[in-house]
Amino acid sequence: MEHIKLNPKTIFKNIIADFPILKNNNLTYLDSAASAQKPYQVINCIKDIYSNSYANVHRGVYSLSQVATDQYEDSREVVKSFINAKKLSEIIFVRGATEAINLVAEIIGVASLNEGDEIILSRLEHHSNIVPWQIVCKKTGAIIKVAEADDNGNISLETIKELINKNTKIISITHISNAIGTVVPVKEICKEAKKQGIITLIDGCQAVPQMPVDVQDIGCDFYVFSGHKTYGPSGVGVLYGREELLSEAPPYQSGGDMIDKVSFAKTTYADLPSKYEAGTPNIVGVIGLGEALKWMNSIGMDQIYDHSQNLLDEGIKVLSGLEGLKIIGNPYNRGGVISFIYKDFHAHDVGTLLNTYNIAIRTGHHCAQPTMERYKLSTTARASIGIYNSIKDFEVLADGLLKVNKIFNKV
Ligand code: ALA
Repeated sequence: MEHIKLNPKTIFKNIIADFPILKNNNLTYLDSAASAQKPYQVINCIKDIYSNSYANVHRGVYSLSQVATDQYEDSREVVKSFINAKKLSEIIFVRGATEAINLVAEIIGVASLNEGDEIILSRLEHHSNIVPWQIVCKKTGAIIKVAEADDNGNISLETIKELINKNTKIISITHISNAIGTVVPVKEICKEAKKQGIITLIDGCQAVPQMPVDVQDIGCDFYVFSGHKTYGPSGVGVLYGREELLSEAPPYQSGGDMIDKVSFAKTTYADLPSKYEAGTPNIVGVIGLGEALKWMNSIGMDQIYDHSQNLLDEGIKVLSGLEGLKIIGNPYNRGGVISFIYKDFHAHDVGTLLNTYNIAIRTGHHCAQPTMERYKLSTTARASIGIYNSIKDFEVLADGLLKVNKIFNKV
């Protein structure tokens, strides 16, 4: 695909002014896949709510509560249109993608799977899209099948098709691997799943911050993402679920706001989305998330995607120029993640030394130990791209790595 040619230096200058933490510190931040920094629009929005419009939602008849409720529900509208869901009732606010996957594992997995039913995951999943399904299997007797990645880090539709049989009930798969950056062909996978009556869940944590996502076009049943990776607050996330499935499924957590009528004899539940939002929600987090998505829209998701892809190409060029640096995976399509090993240095040592030059990258197994195992590694160093990064960040990183090399050669 051809990308709009942006000058990464120009976009760096314009965007960085929105990020106090980057403007005020001499920081090279290349860890947005773990968590993105926050623009002042989100920071100010949070401060403004606590200063001027904070109250509990869905409960008060007084003005402050109504203002807070309107702001909270406006965020639902923003999320709905951001991922092009059909209905507001399909947007559930949760604590993050991890909670969203646990929720689906419980209300669909535990509630409807039987012994011998099969769940397909891929080799590239984050632990949060593996462990909840293992618990489902323990409770129900269902079985996990793993779609393997090839040597370049690709997961193909063919591999998935080979695993599908009459027992396959769920496919739960990442949109972009957080550990090596592979973009998985989720639309093709969902199309095949739909033909065979299989339920699909897509982990969109790494995709939503960097590419336009249209859940109707993808054709998935569930799609999840976290607020803190989309330039919003932590502790909030989104579960998109098709209304037909969510309205049939049992509740997850129970308590206030998710009920219709309660008596000791019998309780009836609220309609969607309240049915899945028990208790006082993360009010300010939800409103802050809406503000973050509005901010991303003001830049344009196509522009954000092109920036990320251009910078990825440039970053790979810069890092590949370093002798002894090996990039892990070479998938057909890559999101803004470059995982690498440098000579025989331990990734933690590399990361720790880079920190002394104010360079932030992630090191470790990236909560994806099965992915590491596939490439016979236990850890990698990972540089990941946010909208505020420019080619300069990769040049600083490369320079930092050369300094790390010198230090190791002296000891
Ligand atoms: N899942 C996050 C990462 O990839 C924390 O770093």
